[in-house]
Amino acid sequence: ASYDMGGHDTYMHKEISEQADAVDRVLRGRIDEKFSTVHLGGLNLDAREARGIRRVKILGCGTSYHAGLIGASLIEGLARIPADSEPASEFRYRNPVVDPDTLYIAVSQSGETYDVLAAVQELKRKGARVLGVVNVVGSAIAREADGGVYVHAGPEVCVVSTKCFTNTVVAFALLALHLGRIRDLSVADGKRIIEGLRRLPGQIQEILESEEDIKKLAAEYANAKSMMFIGRVRGYPVALEASLKLKEISYIHAEAYPASELKHGPLALIEPAMPTVAIVPNDSLLEKNRAAMEEIKARSGRILAVAHQEQEKADHTIIVPKNEDELDPILMGIPLQLLAYHTALALGRDIDKPRNLAKSVTVE
Ligand code: AGP
Repeated sequence: ASYDMGGHDTYMHKEISEQADAVDRVLRGRIDEKFSTVHLGGLNLDAREARGIRRVKILGCGTSYHAGLIGASLIEGLARIPADSEPASEFRYRNPVVDPDTLYIAVSQSGETYDVLAAVQELKRKGARVLGVVNVVGSAIAREADGGVYVHAGPEVCVVSTKCFTNTVVAFALLALHLGRIRDLSVADGKRIIEGLRRLPGQIQEILESEEDIKKLAAEYANAKSMMFIGRVRGYPVALEASLKLKEISYIHAEAYPASELKHGPLALIEPAMPTVAIVPNDSLLEKNRAAMEEIKARSGRILAVAHQEQEKADHTIIVPKNEDELDPILMGIPLQLLAYHTALALGRDIDKPRNLAKSVTVE
């Protein structure tokens, strides 16, 4: 497929730049201000069924799996249903217990990823209820699912996913809010999250406007042989996704770790040639994250922090606007898409078509 690049040099840049509008689209027509909830037309799940869910299992691959990790934390946090995300490919081969009280959610941009589709088919054969969180309308996974939430990111052409990741996480926030308001989430918390969601497009635009600064940072770090990405709890999936993005388009080796795991091994890797990107939101883990940065500094590691305020321990800080704690991961991922982009550009990589990768993996 070929779409107008709208003055951008690459589809990736175009798609990164479209994210404020894309988020606007996934929210449009779904928010119910009066009852501080969300209407999701295609969910196919009534309130009684929603109350009967004991567990949520999210399945996807690559970036969609990472979006699922944040989705799981939103569902567990807002709807108080135990939730986790797993690579669909692994789930399929471990003969998992398929439980009638578990809600299964398949996540996919293309809706055609074979490993995800096969997991959905296996689940349905065993009588499970499966929802889809899918971007491409009418795709195989969307058709196979019992219902779901369309992500409405619009066409994503670049092999690496950016705007669809962001929109998928927002779709999960809507689903979590919907389930939460049927279960135990208060009107006040519903309202708080809705207000946070409404602030997202403007805040995304604000981050995108700092592109020139991020480009300069990319030039600083582009000579790294390898990079470490760390975060805690909500910040960890952001680290995972940012490290995947960097690997895919710059071919710089990158690892993501929960900051708390550093001392259990990966700290041995820290030296000036291995810089760290630290996800440091202003939340209850701020002091813990600062302590992790201190450990890295003590081993003469360079640090680029993504934070809500200047971080003394870091060599550089990218400051992002603060939202509700639950929604912060959505914003913290965006400057790191730009960092990966400008690093790859500085290294002269073929950004829209990274070597060895395909946009959708329709074979096993
Ligand atoms: C994203 O940057 C990747 N190229 C890849 O991990 C992708 O997210 C994965 O293959 C899943 O694709 P899907 O969302 O279309 O199912």
